[in-house]
Amino acid sequence: MEKNKPCRTARRPGQTIPEAVEELLAKMTTAEKLGQMYQSIGADITTVGTTQVKEPVEELLRAGQIGSMMQVGEPHDLAKRIRHFQDIAVNESRLGIPLLFCLDVIHGFETIFPIPLAWSCCFDEELIRQAAATSAREAACCGINYIFSPMVDIPHDPRWGRVAETAGEDPWWGSRVSAALVKGMQEDGGVMACLKHYLGYAAAEAGRDYNTVEFSDSALHNTYLPPFAAGVKAGVKSVMTAFNVANGVPAVANRPLVEGVLRGELGFDGVVVSDYAAVMELMEHGVAEDEADAAEKALAATLDIEMTTNYFRRHGEALLNSGRITMEQVDAAVRRILTAKYELGVMDDPYRFLREEEIDSTVYTPEHLAQSRTLAARSAVLLKNDGVLPLAKDKKLALIGPFADSSDLFGCWCCSTRKAEVATLATGLREKGFDFTVEEGSGVQQPIEGGIERAVAAAKAADVAVLALGEDDQMSGEACSRMNITIPECQQALAEAVAVTGKPTVLVLTNGRPLLLNWYDEHMNAILEGWAPGSEGGRALADLLAGDEVPGGKLTMSFPWHTGQIPVYYNELPTGRPFVEGTDEHFQSKYLDGPNAPLYPFGYGLTYGRCVCGAVKMSGENLAPGETLTATVTVRNEGSLPARETVQLYLRDRCASLSRPVQELRGVKQVWLEPGQQAEVSFAIDEPMLRFYTARGVWASEAGGFDVMIGLDSRSAKQNKAGFTLTAGVQE
Ligand code: GLC
Repeated sequence: MEKNKPCRTARRPGQTIPEAVEELLAKMTTAEKLGQMYQSIGADITTVGTTQVKEPVEELLRAGQIGSMMQVGEPHDLAKRIRHFQDIAVNESRLGIPLLFCLDVIHGFETIFPIPLAWSCCFDEELIRQAAATSAREAACCGINYIFSPMVDIPHDPRWGRVAETAGEDPWWGSRVSAALVKGMQEDGGVMACLKHYLGYAAAEAGRDYNTVEFSDSALHNTYLPPFAAGVKAGVKSVMTAFNVANGVPAVANRPLVEGVLRGELGFDGVVVSDYAAVMELMEHGVAEDEADAAEKALAATLDIEMTTNYFRRHGEALLNSGRITMEQVDAAVRRILTAKYELGVMDDPYRFLREEEIDSTVYTPEHLAQSRTLAARSAVLLKNDGVLPLAKDKKLALIGPFADSSDLFGCWCCSTRKAEVATLATGLREKGFDFTVEEGSGVQQPIEGGIERAVAAAKAADVAVLALGEDDQMSGEACSRMNITIPECQQALAEAVAVTGKPTVLVLTNGRPLLLNWYDEHMNAILEGWAPGSEGGRALADLLAGDEVPGGKLTMSFPWHTGQIPVYYNELPTGRPFVEGTDEHFQSKYLDGPNAPLYPFGYGLTYGRCVCGAVKMSGENLAPGETLTATVTVRNEGSLPARETVQLYLRDRCASLSRPVQELRGVKQVWLEPGQQAEVSFAIDEPMLRFYTARGVWASEAGGFDVMIGLDSRSAKQNKAGFTLTAGVQE
């Protein structure tokens, strides 16, 4: 079929999408309807869990038995393979219904951006939105029209490897990032986005991936649901159910959660897709007797698309004939799928996302790489600096560690084929003109014979040692939970040997989760958390080390002082016996053998300047619904270098129908301050931002007193407090 030739599913002039959907639905056979609900992995033999599923893909396409396909190729051959499959579906099936083509473009396609946990630390929604838009545009011109992103889980446990894909522990900021990513992919990138994983996946017990999840109605609504609500409000067209049970029922078959909360409460009327083989896993969970039972339970929960398993397709007719499912259920699912396809435009032009002629000018361009470099620099977090940074160009450096000259900077979930072109840290420093030697010193998880000795010799011969340590791309992400969230022992031994030389030492981290950094906090002169920084990571880190970029990232996930504290997060509840520093009261919520506080708190990050935040000034003492109060501070850079700061507003509802967090982020403002410069930073406070899901099971604000805290991180903000009274509550 020539490109852009009207296809058989194209709407007639003036025909609305609902009219076109109903007209097509009326023509479809039961088998064709059930086929739309099947998402193939695009290979004839599919290993789903432990099951080998033989799927004659092209035969099924000709029979109109596949509605969408995922992971059908690598970026370099994707367009060719997608065109091949789309040609069959459009030209050789009875109704010619075009396919959706899906891919996990989580933080880049060929141009890789920092991992989501990293970019969440830049606290700049526009930069994040642009990264999503660029990633979607690169994938879309290769035929991808459905992206399994954003992942909006709210994590409290860094043992869980998928914290790398999140925007951190705060629901308010996670909601802002969710909306930015949805708009970047759908409005700017033109593809269908997918919020995941619905619901509560990050709360896996013991931080062990896929493990059991329990949450209260309050946690459901006040912690895990807000980023989904924000994404739905931003117009997301699909949602993916999670692998985990939620309060005993696996999410994919959890009708109260999917039909009740997602579709009922949030009003989501888009496509719900299962996670990979999650329908099959209902049998492993022990809630489905067999494949047909699994299909029946998933459909009852209003699942629309079954990812990689084919139970709807293979058992649907029998389930219909036996009355275990109804045609109304099937039609409802197919309507949502066809509507999504019409809204994407593929029903009017199946090839609108296949623009092979634009690939060279769209994918992996210098502009996109520059965008990735800027975002990587803005996502890095300076955790310690005794003044050793920024490095003067005339300093002789010893660049030491497994990440000194490593291209392992992509992190989890990368489809890019351009790893060999990654800018390593050594590349970045070389381009800056630094004089340095490189010694790997140790592998990521295995020592190198003689490596430490060579590294110590290099450090002794240098002015400054730069230690490039951390986790590789296989140590975080899916199914990568770690009991010990430490820098591997062989690297620790290397660091200790270099520290003994007494040379000023800078630690540059590449990792996908919060790590235990106590020893480094004591022994390093500076610590730069670089995360998995992406295609231009080495250049971005060199920009920061050289002072050509000023660090300004702020942690969006707490770094524990000890694994035993986990889960440790800033927006905890006060308890009835809150720990009070400096008192020797025994019966308090505390440990006998360590602090309650994390090593580095939420919102923490240094810059090259040194800023102080003045006292909070309130524009009034009372707030009535419809009014606005203003909270203002003066921030002054008392250092000798520029400062890039993110000023943070936290609120606390002192007394409510539920126990409320000791702090809740409700505003961020970014300022750039030259040495000696100061700025007034103001935050507007209004009644809607005080609403929560109350003990009465409604979204409402409740009259009473509120604390206002403003600072440069969650910990210091607690010392800078004012307050006001909400005179009347409002129910949504
Ligand atoms: C994976 C992940 C999910 C991803 C899906 C398709 O198992 O849980 O995030 O979108 O499968 O690759």
